[in-house]
Amino acid sequence: MAPSAITEIITEPSATGTLSLQPIASKMAQRPKNADGSALYPDYLPFYDPLEKVDDLGHFEHHDVGHRADPKMPNLLAKATKVVNLSPHVGTEIEGVQLSQLSSEGLDELALLAAKRGALVFRNQDFGDIGFEAQKKIVRHFGPLHVHGWAPHPAAGSPEHMVIYDHKEDLRVRRSWKGRSPVQWHTDQSPEPQPPGVTFICMLESPAAAGGDTLVSSSVQAYKSLSPRFRKRLEGLTAIHTNNDGVSQELKNGDGAVMRRQELVQEHPIVIVHPVTGEKALYVNPVYTKRVVGFDEEESEYLLRFLFDHIAKRQDLQCRVRYEAGTCLVWDQRVTNHSQTLDYPAGDRRHAFRLTSLANKPIPAKIEEDDGECAKDFARVQLGLC
Ligand SMILES: [Fe+2]
Repeated sequence: MAPSAITEIITEPSATGTLSLQPIASKMAQRPKNADGSALYPDYLPFYDPLEKVDDLGHFEHHDVGHRADPKMPNLLAKATKVVNLSPHVGTEIEGVQLSQLSSEGLDELALLAAKRGALVFRNQDFGDIGFEAQKKIVRHFGPLHVHGWAPHPAAGSPEHMVIYDHKEDLRVRRSWKGRSPVQWHTDQSPEPQPPGVTFICMLESPAAAGGDTLVSSSVQAYKSLSPRFRKRLEGLTAIHTNNDGVSQELKNGDGAVMRRQELVQEHPIVIVHPVTGEKALYVNPVYTKRVVGFDEEESEYLLRFLFDHIAKRQDLQCRVRYEAGTCLVWDQRVTNHSQTLDYPAGDRRHAFRLTSLANKPIPAKIEEDDGECAKDFARVQLGLC
């Protein structure tokens, strides 16, 4: 049998006799780029205003639209041509559906499916072309929109649009990862009093060859995969979440630092319940979760380190989302953790925007019952540790 063209390319020896991959590079598919090197979506270039201030939203009633959804999902999946799970526990890719065309009922079903599968991937979307207001109207269906404390938004306005941008002319994000791993598992903005639920990332321009994927892990399965006795120990515990590391990082930008909002500190249950599915999920992450309430420092570090490692190392509970221009990732932050990869060449352009709906105050898996033991320990009472 004659060798295929690709076999000939792979085995072609270089002048030095070693295997050369150069011929492959010339045949590799490249993602869309402007010939002059300019951004494909200039209206979405990042804008930083150090003087900009935004008030906190405050408490709001949240009614999860997933409650209204038809579990058969006839509106969401009416035009779907293919539905493929990215891994058994998290992530589903749906072909043939335009997010911009979904009815109110279809968006309800989108919320339910995101809660069940954690992350949903839609390719070849026109979502990036329908304009700021239409985009916000769709994501606002799930809850009020979040405004980030310092991340850029488009120059034309819309502070709710969080621009994700990395390019040789703007290395602000890449510099912030200098000297540390860019892989940091988290749920976005967990220190909010009512943290995010359904969230959209719309990819506008991807690195030329490959890279810039998002890693997603299931927090529901991260919880379920623990032993029943260990799970029982976690229920009722709470932990402190804060964004003070991010604030410190942003302040390194000096006069150009953006600080729209106050620093956030919040106590949340370590195991939460999703309001629609009733599934329990582990709700800690190494970016924002700092200590377990009521534990001594070493105990807290010990437990959180185990839980963070558990989330990061259980690749059987994860999926990986690859993007092209026009790919939208829709996910439910309450049942997942995620991380960037930042694995493509420095200077290459990766450009996206995120719209984030806020949801319910995290629901504890169980109300902790104070057994009174701490109050009997005089030393702990004197030090205010109960
Ligand atoms: Fe994130």
